[in-house]
Amino acid sequence: MAYFLGLFGYGPNPSAALVRDGALVAFAEEERFNRIKTAPNSLPLGALLYCLKQAGIGIDDVEAIGFGWDCERYVETMPRFYEEFRAKYPSADNGYNALQEDYLLNLYHPTRIRTDLVQALALRGVHLAPERIGFLPHHLCHAASTYYCSGFAEASVLTLDGSGEEFSTFLWHGRGDRLKELRSVRLPHSLGGFYATFTEFLGFKAYQDEGKLMGLAPYGRHSEALQKKLDEVLPWDHAAGEFQTNPYMRYLGPRTHGRRFTDAFVQLFGRPRLAHQPIEDRHRDLAFNVQWRLEQIGAALVRTVVGLTGSRNLCLAGGVAMNCCMNGKLSSLPEVERIFVQPASADNGIALGAAYALAQRAGVSAFEPFGHAYWGPEFSDAQVEAAIRESKLPYERCRDTIAEAARLLAEGKILGWFQGRMEIGARALGNRSILASPLFADMKDRLNLEVKHREDWRPFCPSLPIEDYRRYFGEGIDSDYMILAYPVRAAEQARVPGVVHVDGTARPQTVRREVNPRFHALLNEFGRLTGHPILINTSFNVQGEPIVCTPPDALRCFGGTGLDALVLNDFILRKPR
Ligand SMILES: [Fe+2]
Repeated sequence: MAYFLGLFGYGPNPSAALVRDGALVAFAEEERFNRIKTAPNSLPLGALLYCLKQAGIGIDDVEAIGFGWDCERYVETMPRFYEEFRAKYPSADNGYNALQEDYLLNLYHPTRIRTDLVQALALRGVHLAPERIGFLPHHLCHAASTYYCSGFAEASVLTLDGSGEEFSTFLWHGRGDRLKELRSVRLPHSLGGFYATFTEFLGFKAYQDEGKLMGLAPYGRHSEALQKKLDEVLPWDHAAGEFQTNPYMRYLGPRTHGRRFTDAFVQLFGRPRLAHQPIEDRHRDLAFNVQWRLEQIGAALVRTVVGLTGSRNLCLAGGVAMNCCMNGKLSSLPEVERIFVQPASADNGIALGAAYALAQRAGVSAFEPFGHAYWGPEFSDAQVEAAIRESKLPYERCRDTIAEAARLLAEGKILGWFQGRMEIGARALGNRSILASPLFADMKDRLNLEVKHREDWRPFCPSLPIEDYRRYFGEGIDSDYMILAYPVRAAEQARVPGVVHVDGTARPQTVRREVNPRFHALLNEFGRLTGHPILINTSFNVQGEPIVCTPPDALRCFGGTGLDALVLNDFILRKPR
């Protein structure tokens, strides 16, 4: 029996994952422990300690430790890459970029990563020899994070990212326990970078709020004029399926308006929107056309990789694979028969891929399918009750929690729902969720106004038992992870307005009895009361904060928002009317 520990840090969304032989044991994001959204510039210390505790082992019991960024490259390869880059793309204003390069060379220097990790762990009583920390290529980790747990014996694998070392994109062939590189795309060309640029330009947070751009897109219209302008930023060869991104639009040249777009970009697209400014039609149209182009290029890459491998099983990973609208479209391509997108496809999944890649290198050849997303900590009734007592809030222990929760939801109450092991990934999947009935026309507005404080144009997602998928969705492949968007049947759209986006699509979570029996039972009980076994399921947090992890986190969120009731295991807390 051998344990493999994957880690990633200092980028967005650090995490840790522990694999025993080929089976996942624990996997969690650091933000849930340090309570800072996406935990930028952090090491995954809380997540690492949790993984060891979950397995009941010490760090010395771990066979290999891998950090999902190839830091050894930052000693020799990356300085040379930056030099060649400067020679290829001369710019009159390179000072800022030179500072950025220096920053990255220092940030990812292997000595720094090893020393910082060893020192931080020593302060927590965990002693680790620095040489035990190995480094793995970022895109290999992305590819491993989806292929090894997909359950496919063979697959076409695409990793679509902002950047990982000097690469943004890889095409892979997964076969048996091997992942073979087929093609790669080097910086400055980057689909993730392209999308992040427009995310920032539209007044959202790059590398965090890309989903807002995606959610805005269906409100806009296709425009040939905008597509022509996008040719300047992201030219692509339709036939060859190859794309480029123009660095003079993104970061070579004066940037007086933002970090990720130059003044030449502003000349082309006009002034950027600031976060507090209203959203206008020009912003909606831009979002639509950016999303459209991403989907076109994604489809071309899928055709290419399937053509190279001959496998119609598709695995996706990388930050761009969090784009569920693109994923839905790719899954519907004639070249694709089956699709797997692991729910932590962004850099939060790097630790998982690192752990799998270490296991594969050590000779593990059989990997268990991912199965579900509940790989975080859980809390016993005794722990939950102790936390509630400390809060001094009135509570009761339910005799029939499912019936009571379903009754409250059917009445139109908004519920905090906390049970079992915490989900990995950006979506709550029924263990750290805020639940509400989608049958009320005003529920979206109430949720936004009273609890989530999100932009009113953003959609909420539905959860439903897998047995009822076809009732609401005419097409598409069921997904347990809210990672694929599909049209809702026209006849059902008006019945469940709370979960249908402006373009008639939704991003569902299908719930299986054998995976999450309590949540499955709740959906069915709600269906028995209302005729519709489908609920709005949004993450248990308020805007700007990570999803809750512990009972005290849930109690804080309950107290600070307009949640009507909170269900923690079998305990229930209600607010006075
Ligand atoms: Fe990445």
